[in-house]
Order: sequence, then C-alpha cells, then structure tokens
Amino acid sequence: MGNYDFTGRAKRWTKFFVHYLNERVRGLDFSMVYVGDLQKNTEEYHGYSMTDATDMKRILQAVPVDPRKSAFLDVGCGKGMCMKVAAKLGYSKTDGLDLDAHLLEIARRNMKKLRLDVNCIQANAIEFDGYANYDVFYCYNPFGKSVFEKVIKKLIESQQERNRDIGAIYYHPVFAKLFQQAGFVLEKEIHDHTRDTVARYYRYPKQE
Ligand SMILES: C[S@@+](CC[C@H](N)C(=O)[O-])C[C@H]1O[C@@H](n2cnc3c(N)ncnc32)[C@H](O)[C@@H]1O
Repeated sequence: MGNYDFTGRAKRWTKFFVHYLNERVRGLDFSMVYVGDLQKNTEEYHGYSMTDATDMKRILQAVPVDPRKSAFLDVGCGKGMCMKVAAKLGYSKTDGLDLDAHLLEIARRNMKKLRLDVNCIQANAIEFDGYANYDVFYCYNPFGKSVFEKVIKKLIESQQERNRDIGAIYYHPVFAKLFQQAGFVLEKEIHDHTRDTVARYYRYPKQE
C-alpha cells in the first residue's frame, strides 16, 4: 500500500512537471502556483486549483450532452483549463466567470495564445445575471454552502428567462446534497479510480 502510494505520487509529480514545462515552452499558465489576495481559502471562497485536463476531457465525454447544441459556462473558471477542454470538444459556446481579476487576466492570455474564442467574465457567481445564456455549468468546488445555495437558485430561476434542460457538472462534489434538495436529478457519476476523483452530472429538467 505504502509502495503503491509512493508510486502513485511519483507518477503524479512527474506528470505535473512535464505539464509545467510544456506550458512554459508555449507561454501558457494553467498550473503554476498562484497566490493572489483572494486566494486564501475561506469557508465561502475557495481559491484556485485546476481540474486535470485528462480528467476534464473524460468527464465531458462521459456526460449525456451534445456539445454542438449546448453552451458551456465554467462557474469559477480560474486560469481557464476547463474552458480550453470544453471549447476543443466543440461546445457551441464556451465561457467562464471568476471573481478574481488577476486569474481572469491569465485566463484571457491563455485563450488568446490558444486562439480560442472564449469569454472570461469577471463576476461574483451570486450576482451574475447571464445564466440563461448557458445550458451546461461546470463547478469545481468554487465556494461554500451558502454561496452554492444562492447560485443554484439563480440557475433554476434562469429557466424563467429561457426554458431548457439545465446540466450541472460538479467535480469534487462536497455539497452534492444541495443540488438534489433543489430538485436536480443525478444522472451520472464519473469515477477515476487511479486519481480517486469523482464528478457528478445533474440535470434540472425543462418545464412542461
Ligand atoms: C477550485 S478553482 C477551479 C478553477 C477551474 N474551474 C478549474 O477547474 O480548473 C475555484 C475558482 O472559483 C473562483 N471563485 C470562488 N468564489 C467565487 C465566486 N463567488 N464567484 C466567482 N468565482 C468564484 C476562485 O477564484 C477559483 O478560481
């Protein structure tokens, strides 16, 4: 078990290092350590950490969504790794929002280097009023319970502006109960046993 842990860790660090060098060479920055004013984790604000690109691709390929007919929003997009993967998988529109202006600057630079047509929006997820423009929302543990409750409420309210199925992909789903309590239906759970990660796909059905 100890050996297995060591091997697993060594593999992850090697992978991180290869990614890091690859980013440096291409003038990108998704995985470098970021310490901004907002980056101290608090109960309601969770700082930047990145979804692994391979994990993200596997998750997006596993969810029952046709990307060509769906607009994707990363709620708490950080430096933009998930937007990059979603845009490359052919989502009809791919955007992200974040509270942290500095992270968004980095995200914009990344998207420009990669020539991806993606909007990086500076907004607090609680106050954002554009949810009706999107069909699939991605959350990687961006905030605590009370913020999550408000954001989920806003997602549901956005159906009044545009009635459609609302999909929510929740990675590292610590507050999964909140989606279920609000009436979202769990449609799929995606596990990666090598990395020990879980993502859940919830759907809030279109109103008849
Ligand atoms: C764990 S990181 C995830 C980054 C990215 N989605 C990824 O998976 O690579 C969470 C992000 O949520 C952002 N965030 C936290 N609270 C927020 C809020 N109230 N509104 C918008 N963004 C927020 C943080 O700045 C951080 O970049």
